[in-house]
Amino acid sequence: MNILVTGGCGFIGANFLRRMVPRHPEHQFLNLDALTYAGNPLSLQEIEDLPNYDFAKVNLAHSADTHQVVEAFQPDWVIHFAAETHVDRSIKFPGDFIQSNIIGTYNLLESCRTIWSDQFEGRIFHHVSTDEVFGELGETGAFSETTPYDPSSPYSASKASSDHLVRAWNHTYGLPVKITNCSNNYGPYQFPEKLIPVMVLKGLTMEPLPVYGKGANIRDWLFVNDHVDAIWTVLERGEIGETYAIGGNSERTNLQVVEGICRSLAQLTNSSEDQYLQLISFVADRPGHDFRYAIDASKIREKLGWEPSVTFEEGLHQTVEWYLQNPEWINSVKTGAYREWIDTHYGKGVNS
Ligand SMILES: NC(=O)c1ccc[n+]([C@@H]2O[C@H](COP(=O)([O-])OP(=O)(O)OC[C@H]3O[C@@H](n4cnc5c(N)ncnc54)[C@H](O)[C@@H]3O)[C@@H](O)[C@H]2O)c1
Repeated sequence: MNILVTGGCGFIGANFLRRMVPRHPEHQFLNLDALTYAGNPLSLQEIEDLPNYDFAKVNLAHSADTHQVVEAFQPDWVIHFAAETHVDRSIKFPGDFIQSNIIGTYNLLESCRTIWSDQFEGRIFHHVSTDEVFGELGETGAFSETTPYDPSSPYSASKASSDHLVRAWNHTYGLPVKITNCSNNYGPYQFPEKLIPVMVLKGLTMEPLPVYGKGANIRDWLFVNDHVDAIWTVLERGEIGETYAIGGNSERTNLQVVEGICRSLAQLTNSSEDQYLQLISFVADRPGHDFRYAIDASKIREKLGWEPSVTFEEGLHQTVEWYLQNPEWINSVKTGAYREWIDTHYGKGVNS
């Protein structure tokens, strides 16, 4: 089978490919990625020479390029991770989010519709989305597959739009789609602009740990390998046309997350927790910062038998340990060395 993975140089896509390409030599994987600032091919070094892996640098916002690659590869399954993903960036540069997340998804849907030309047996278009499309929760309750959409940021609005397009291509054209909406992911290879890697890297160099507001915002945290396994479960056993909410059963306030990082850093460096805790500093909140997200993942648990395999504390400790053990990867991101690598291999003008 041919499996097209978009956004495979990003955090979740890279973890997906690193896990699935070696496990499934019977399948051919193509990673389609624009190599934006968030796409780091160095995350894939261990699998890039495997015979069942290939890469194509394509911006999904460009329909002709997208169509050419999809047509040449003839995928049976498409797993669509590619997106602009950082909420703070979406507030500054909303246009990038419209291009990649809405136009990009539309182009990919249309390419699949054209090449599959109504022969849908065995085909899957799997759209990876977020719980942020549902807006925010108060102190109680949880999002599920039936929660009405109520996105707040340009990021979540663009992901909500892409979810609606994917469903419309199923209802209107019969395209065989599956959608997953998951909570906040964490784990190895996450670009250091998101909460957990930012705090780990700042903690390592004893810089202040900036926490929005009072650190009271609550997120459900999902270990990336658990997410990747959930997606594979949905691909293999999920129903066409269905949506599955994926969560980690791990609601924590942002302050609890940062305190947990301080604890792991202290244990792993054999030093005192207090010296890290003292670095915590509270900064002005993000505009429109959603208060709480939580996921009711009972559908995927009951229908497909998937459950998270690690507790938040185990996953967080493994993550902090990974950042401590991989200074070259961190350095490549911090110094921008991976951009030079991309320029050498693929030429300048990334995202053009
Ligand atoms: N990270 C999370 O916590 C989280 C939570 C819920 C849902 N999601 C969803 O999961 C998916 C992957 O998230 P991530 O954290 O790995 O993102 P990421 O920002 O780490 O990576 C995104 C990848 O997509 C590529 N990309 C961006 N625009 C593109 C375009 N126009 N054409 C081709 N490639 C493009 C980038 O180069 C990068 O490799 C996204 O769709 C995101 O909305 C993420």
